[in-house]
Amino acid sequence: MVWEPVLEKFKELFGGEGDIGVYFAPGRVNLIGEHTDYNGGHVFPCALTIGTYGAVRKRADKKLRFYSMNFECDGVIESSIEALRPEKEAGWTNYPKGVIWAFGEHGMKVEQGMDLVLFGNIPNGSGLSSSASVEVLTGFILKDLFGFDVSGQDLAVIGQYAEQKFNGVNCGIMDQFAIAMGKKGQAIFLDTATLQYEYVPLKLEGAKIIISCSNKKRGLGDSKYNERRLECESALAQIGEVIGINALGDLSEEQFERYKPAIKEEICLKRARHAVCENQRTIKAAEALKHHDLALFGKLMNDSHVSLRDDYEVTGVELDTLVEAAWKLEGVLGSRMTGAGFGGCTVSLVKDDAVVSFLEKVGEAYRNKIGYAADFYVVEIGGGPEKIA
Ligand code: GLA
Repeated sequence: MVWEPVLEKFKELFGGEGDIGVYFAPGRVNLIGEHTDYNGGHVFPCALTIGTYGAVRKRADKKLRFYSMNFECDGVIESSIEALRPEKEAGWTNYPKGVIWAFGEHGMKVEQGMDLVLFGNIPNGSGLSSSASVEVLTGFILKDLFGFDVSGQDLAVIGQYAEQKFNGVNCGIMDQFAIAMGKKGQAIFLDTATLQYEYVPLKLEGAKIIISCSNKKRGLGDSKYNERRLECESALAQIGEVIGINALGDLSEEQFERYKPAIKEEICLKRARHAVCENQRTIKAAEALKHHDLALFGKLMNDSHVSLRDDYEVTGVELDTLVEAAWKLEGVLGSRMTGAGFGGCTVSLVKDDAVVSFLEKVGEAYRNKIGYAADFYVVEIGGGPEKIA
């Protein structure tokens, strides 16, 4: 079992007595609908079977002790529930700490400390939401350990709050929602303006989802992410002077064409065009999937990448190389970057009989152009957070 070493590590570090629980929260991949979730648009993500495992035990005092098997050289990082503030030296523990803090801000004060050991099998910084996975995992643990009355949606909202207010990334709701509400074999068609959602079975008869990880970490991505968000807000404010809308996601493509002269800066216009068209593509893609039209679904994925590359400018040479190599192959229905961009992963829909050549050819093209290897994962769609043991 993947989780057994986490429990073993916990016992080795913190002792085996008392009630030790083992929990899991998935990572996520977004099929389409990128950079729409802070523009009141739609997203279409699903949870993965890879994710974060955590072994945990309540403490009688206020102390927090954290250890990650992914960051072993950091050792045990200590803190206290009475001193919850983001600290650079606290590294990854700012994610669980942020969620404990955010529970307090939502009227659910955590009164006891805990010991927590984590292990994640999502590649870090890959755009598969390893941080949101840790956030939702922490929320789920708090709910279970202390009996807080929170729904899956609440876990998503609190996780997003922690990411924004504690960790300074002004993210949308998609990652935490996809993780907290994940369902095996289903994609989640979510309207981020209302949080209304629908599960759509991901019946990929004869095809697989392949995630290609560029191994280029997001790096400066967070500040660029916030910058894109500001550019969209500026476009919305300008277009809002000529048509009453709450978000770019309220606009159809035709309306955008009509009202776009209101946006004065070329950069903001491009960002807004992406937000509007990507939202419409996502709505069409969910329909296509419901009608088992994988060819159309794949085409919309390709169009999404082009828009993220040319209008939103968040792809970069690594992601473009992976996607463009995939597009050249027979049996690839669609391929695009997934997540925030600026490095990270691509997601491709590939016919079963083309999987082997995909791994070989895309891998080779990437190595030749970029100079180091990409990693590939043929993934399964998993469920939301759970207690395993
Ligand atoms: C990151 C954010 C999400 C979303 C995507 C882009 O993953 O956390 O909220 O904005 O980027 O679609």
